[in-house]
Amino acid sequence: MIASENFTVESLLQAIEGKSEVEALRTLTELFPGQVSFSSSLGYEDQVITDMILANSLPVRIFTLDTGRLFEETYKTLQRTNKRYDTRLEVVFPKHEAIENLLNGKGPYSFYESVENRKECCFIRKVEPLNRALEGVKIWVTGIRASQSGNRQTMAPIEWDEAHQLFKFHPIIDWEFGQVKEYVKGNNVPYNPLHEKGFVSIGCAPCTRAIQEGEDFRAGRWWWEDESKKECGLHAR
Ligand code: ADX
Ligand code: SF4
Repeated sequence: MIASENFTVESLLQAIEGKSEVEALRTLTELFPGQVSFSSSLGYEDQVITDMILANSLPVRIFTLDTGRLFEETYKTLQRTNKRYDTRLEVVFPKHEAIENLLNGKGPYSFYESVENRKECCFIRKVEPLNRALEGVKIWVTGIRASQSGNRQTMAPIEWDEAHQLFKFHPIIDWEFGQVKEYVKGNNVPYNPLHEKGFVSIGCAPCTRAIQEGEDFRAGRWWWEDESKKECGLHAR
């Protein structure tokens, strides 16, 4: 049993049992005041959770990792989200010295050359900024869904994250893609227009492409790599 202060995965699962996503989020903000943060990539799933948080004025901090290599459409989604909810989502940026060293040492496309280089870039642009953003956080909310990939299928809605010493909460872990689309449409949630062009999981521009019908959800991410290596390190397990 893994515990943080007085809580365990089991006790938190019990605390949210039978509750809607919004009520579960609310419960966690009451148990961990000021320590609940949601990381949003501004993709479909994450926009659903942003809507749940902002439409219900839940005291959850929302931040996005701007890797410096995002699609123009993703920045537009950020802009439209800020406008729609009259807010400014927090933007976390990589350390400029690390980016300068990378670009000056290996050029702008080192990630295509090897898995090692790709992981180095992901570390500098995503993992290190994420670690900074998660300082002092006790509940890290994500938009992960079980049906997104093989290694997400066994995930529970609440997990203990040993690396960051916090609990992760995936409010829509059991949702199917159709439900996500319905929510976005039904609640008039702003979304990334790339989703209409065959992009499902959207990350950095040079590392994301559209998928064909029937292809795996994550087939458009790091498509030149082995299936088993396709996690960027944000959700190392
Ligand atoms: S990744 O690990 O492949 O990059 P994916 O795009 O599936 O992740 O998103 C899974 C979850 O990771 C999202 O729901 C979100 O919580 C978080 N995430 C991914 N990319 C970002 C980002 N750029 N900024 C903030 N959170 C992100
Ligand atoms: Fe770098 Fe690509 Fe990882 Fe983005 S997804 S951080 S561009 S390797």
